[in-house]
Amino acid sequence: MDKTYYITTPIYYTSGKPHVGHAYCSIMADTLARFHRLIGDDVFFLTGTDEHGQKVEENAKKQGLSPQAFVDSLDIDFKALWNKLNISYDAYIRTTDEQHRLAVQRIFQKLYEQGDIYKKDYEGHYCVPCEAYWTEHQLAEGKVCPDCGRPVTWLKEESYFFRASKYAQRLIDHIESHPEFIQPVSRSNEMMNNFLKPGLQDISVSRTSINWGIPVSFDSKHTIYVWIDALPNYITALGYTTGNDQLMKRFWPANIHLVGKEIIRFHTVIWPIILMALDLPLPKQIYGHGWLLMDNDKMSKSKGNVVDPNSIINEFGSDALRHFLLSKIPTGNDGNFTMELFNQSFNTDLANDLGNLLSRTVAMQERYFQGKVQPPCQPEALDQSLIQLALETPQEVHDAMLLNDFNRAVASIWKLVSRCNKYIDETSPWTLAKDVSQSSRLGTVLYHLAECLRVIAVLLQPFMPETSPKIFRQLGVMGRTPLQTWDSIKTYGRLPAGTVVKKEESLFPRIETEQTEAAKAKREQKKKTDETIIKKGEKEMEDNKPLEIIETNMLPDQKPQITIDDFAKIDFRMAEIIACEKVPKADRLLKLKVQIGHTVRTIVSGIAEHYTPDQLIGKQICVVANLAPHSFRGIESNGMLLAASDDAHTSVILLQPEKPTQSGWRVK
Ligand code: MSP
Repeated sequence: MDKTYYITTPIYYTSGKPHVGHAYCSIMADTLARFHRLIGDDVFFLTGTDEHGQKVEENAKKQGLSPQAFVDSLDIDFKALWNKLNISYDAYIRTTDEQHRLAVQRIFQKLYEQGDIYKKDYEGHYCVPCEAYWTEHQLAEGKVCPDCGRPVTWLKEESYFFRASKYAQRLIDHIESHPEFIQPVSRSNEMMNNFLKPGLQDISVSRTSINWGIPVSFDSKHTIYVWIDALPNYITALGYTTGNDQLMKRFWPANIHLVGKEIIRFHTVIWPIILMALDLPLPKQIYGHGWLLMDNDKMSKSKGNVVDPNSIINEFGSDALRHFLLSKIPTGNDGNFTMELFNQSFNTDLANDLGNLLSRTVAMQERYFQGKVQPPCQPEALDQSLIQLALETPQEVHDAMLLNDFNRAVASIWKLVSRCNKYIDETSPWTLAKDVSQSSRLGTVLYHLAECLRVIAVLLQPFMPETSPKIFRQLGVMGRTPLQTWDSIKTYGRLPAGTVVKKEESLFPRIETEQTEAAKAKREQKKKTDETIIKKGEKEMEDNKPLEIIETNMLPDQKPQITIDDFAKIDFRMAEIIACEKVPKADRLLKLKVQIGHTVRTIVSGIAEHYTPDQLIGKQICVVANLAPHSFRGIESNGMLLAASDDAHTSVILLQPEKPTQSGWRVK
């Protein structure tokens, strides 16, 4: 019987669109799920959405939608993103699912009937956005919510309480006797010292002030509080209380709940206590991963500093995003997400190291042997050390993945990639190719490169599920063959001689950023050409005296004619620049916040060489409001400013209204 492996992500709040922070957690979970499938485990991978609560209700209202219609539309966004990122979940739970709703009500009722839930009056400082009560001493300085820093209100309501105190000691004992339960270990110490050891209070588990949620079945004026609604998703998705317990029997307890560090407390305190009360075994591990930071601040919807993963995927592909997050964000700790780091990692690891290794190998195989892989001869010392590494790498990746150490796992694969590139330099196949007597040596060298690339492609499957099949295809290892399995890389040399490789387009074409030498040279060249044109124009003006004005409907470089209907498609609006800053490491870009009527949006504009942010803030301008969004260095731009300029862009002048105008007015 296969070993089972049950992995979950948090269920994401459908209070707004998914961002790259959500993607980060799902990518890690997907990589683990794919890895365990690859090594032969019987995997169940669960994800989903947390759709109840006051925030959802409020946000739906703002958009004039019913809460259900609102969450339905966000659900589409989440699923579309998971699809683009190849998130291979086996089940997707929504807390609005009927099966979940009934199961949560049954759980609540059972706990009530056995005396673990009781009702009492409750009063305290309540934070509406966080839906949490705080005691006087828990409040942050200024008597505000310690989580979000917003003002709290004094609230009194009748509430159901969970008798958490009853299970506290059992939980402490469990954590102490199972060091692997809370990971990384630092988070375990934090939980014990800050929450468990000081003593656990009973927990309020219902609200009368929230409507959008699951009602207590026997007291419908109470709505089951979000955590008691959300946490059981991990078992309701397996059919708990439905009478069909096959999945529960097969997969519970979960091997790992992967969660962000901010919700580890709920998963390591409330969830285990619920499970104890239900007499169910505890999950084997709760892993609290770190946050993605943007300029050292947590990326979050409320702070408005989120990166839209869709724009990165559209521009660079989903595997590039997966590779960056898995290899460059320190697993278990916080990590900065910047486009500069992303570009660097793309060009170095993907374009130079992996992409070039494949294209060089396949190109040489085609050039010297018409694409046909040759049988390898007796290995030399250089070959032996490469073979050794190819055999050790799967074990290294395996060990790292059992510790959820994605960085180390990817680094091990790249060690083999780099070793192969070095092997090319050391064996110098192009020199061997000049000497016919070295033909079998040349064939052997190319064999080892192709076989190592096969090993790399097998290993990369969980991390970069779109890239591996591309490598297999170029190597001539088609379809789901035994040559793509984990077992196939336990022994070296399974790639049969006679396999025919075929060069296709490069895996990762380099990103031409302002930083790369090539781009710099190109810009220099353009500048020179522009200068020549300007000088020529100036000279002509000097020589020709005043230029003659002629009457005509044609300009020398006029664009093709359009109709009035074409013109009417463009939505020009008056707007005001309310904030502006330089885009780091992009000489020409400014990020502007513009107000159009009662709305605000971000526009990225290439005018940094002509205006400073200070000169722009407060200016009234005209924008194209209905331009399709476009991403510049990971920032989504939603519109365009109108400006006049000469062809060479030496001078750029913003268009402004002749007198102050109402923001939002149309320009026709
Ligand atoms: N709905 C709850 C979870 C209930 S689980 C029973 C919730 N949802 S959330 O959408 O706010 O966040 C869910 C998870 O998204 C986080 O725990 C984390 O895994 C991920 N992230 C959200 N923002 C993130 C970053 N800025 N960085 C990294 N991960 C982030 O909490």
